Amino acid sequence: MKTLIIGASGMLGHDLVRAFQELRHDILAPPHKELDITRSDSVRDYVSREKPQCVVLSAGFTRVDDCESQRETAFAVNAEGPRHVAQACRESGAKLVYVSTDYVFNGQKTGPYTEDDPAGPINVYGQSKLAGENYIRELSRDYLIVRASWLYGLNGRNFVETILNKARTVTELRVVDDQKGAPTYAKDLAEAIAILVARGAGGTVNVANSQTCTWFEFARTILQLQGITGVDVRPVTSEEFKAPARRPANSILSGDRYRSLTGKTLRPWKEALADYLRARG
Ligand SMILES: NC(=O)c1ccc[n+]([C@@H]2O[C@H](COP(=O)([O-])OP(=O)(O)OC[C@H]3O[C@@H](n4cnc5c(N)ncnc54)[C@H](OP(=O)(O)O)[C@@H]3O)[C@@H](O)[C@H]2O)c1
Repeated sequence: MKTLIIGASGMLGHDLVRAFQELRHDILAPPHKELDITRSDSVRDYVSREKPQCVVLSAGFTRVDDCESQRETAFAVNAEGPRHVAQACRESGAKLVYVSTDYVFNGQKTGPYTEDDPAGPINVYGQSKLAGENYIRELSRDYLIVRASWLYGLNGRNFVETILNKARTVTELRVVDDQKGAPTYAKDLAEAIAILVARGAGGTVNVANSQTCTWFEFARTILQLQGITGVDVRPVTSEEFKAPARRPANSILSGDRYRSLTGKTLRPWKEALADYLRARG
């Protein structure tokens, strides 16, 4: 199958290229300057010329805090971008796979979020991603929206690297302890997306590593697994931490639909994290 991966130079994009290559897809991975999703002509020209059968849209404006001060750019990339891609896929008959986020939810639910729970984003990033999802639902004939959470991977800036970098220079780290979710290894997510595409899955599907934690527990585990001592990790509330963007208190995504479609469950986040730490060397 000829598959276009948009955002292939990003953290998840790198792993998507590898995962789809493993399934023997013929990959197109144009750089941002060759295919800019904020420009409908750029998307339409590329898709009509190359005629991919499947388009995986992993590109996004992903700096959650910056989205608050750059609302226009967030919507141009995360909402208008998917609209342009959905229109081009509809015209060419390609299947569209869009990577979305747990941040479409407000975090007030007690249990895990299912695909059918009502969205209610509490920050600009989540609002822009939800707008992108909605354009896709409205315009696409054949789509798969995959919602993921708390990503880290070998090819991009991420929470694990932030913690390890900080641990080199400070003796105390303050980490938020009132937001819970599932840290997810980009490699595992990319493989899961490739599996879903191979099975012809459609609609909305949550994908995250299994078991959950808070950012504080995640940070503590990163240091433990790396054998780093002498850094005091302190739990703080979101209010004390004062990030520019609000985040949902509960980001936990139910894996039930993924399991019923594939018969699989992603491995526990601690196992995936240990694998990542080994792979980064
Ligand atoms: N990171 C997370 O925790 C997380 C969680 C849930 C869901 N997601 C979603 O997963 C997807 C991948 O995330 P990621 O962390 O891998 O992102 P990332 O590393 O920030 O990569 C984003 C990619 O998008 C490209 N891009 C940005 N603007 C573009 C445009 N106008 N046209 C074409 N390409 C553009 C970037 O290219 P340049 O660098 O060349 O500009 C880069 O390749 C995103 O859609 C994100 O919303 C992320």
